Amino acid sequence: MISALLAIPSFAVWFETVKTNLKIISKTKKVILPANMNDGISFIENLIVEKSGKGINIFSSTCTHLGCKINQEKNNKFICPCHGSQFALNGEVIKGPATKNLKQFNYSQDKKTGKIIVYVG
Ligand code: FES
Repeated sequence: MISALLAIPSFAVWFETVKTNLKIISKTKKVILPANMNDGISFIENLIVEKSGKGINIFSSTCTHLGCKINQEKNNKFICPCHGSQFALNGEVIKGPATKNLKQFNYSQDKKTGKIIVYVG
């Protein structure tokens, strides 16, 4: 009887952990990008895709200042149209008012199709 009573709190902790992990998994969204993307900068959905011979970097196009959508690249900088924040091609903020770098997303590539699966969340 006592051991059953002691098990209740640990079950509650386990249950909360599982619930939290399920929320995280359910919030993760996948965006599928085509396999045959050209090198260069692409603005797709809410993503900035920077592709070169060195690899692919994928960032959120949401400005870290107040959330405007970054939709242009000029002189190797991503420029926010709202207040002029600028970000380097590696996502680092180089001119404010933004103070945080662009969020970078992980991705994988489907071995059969070559499509790029971006994990957004
Ligand atoms: Fe981008 Fe303000 S929202 S600089």
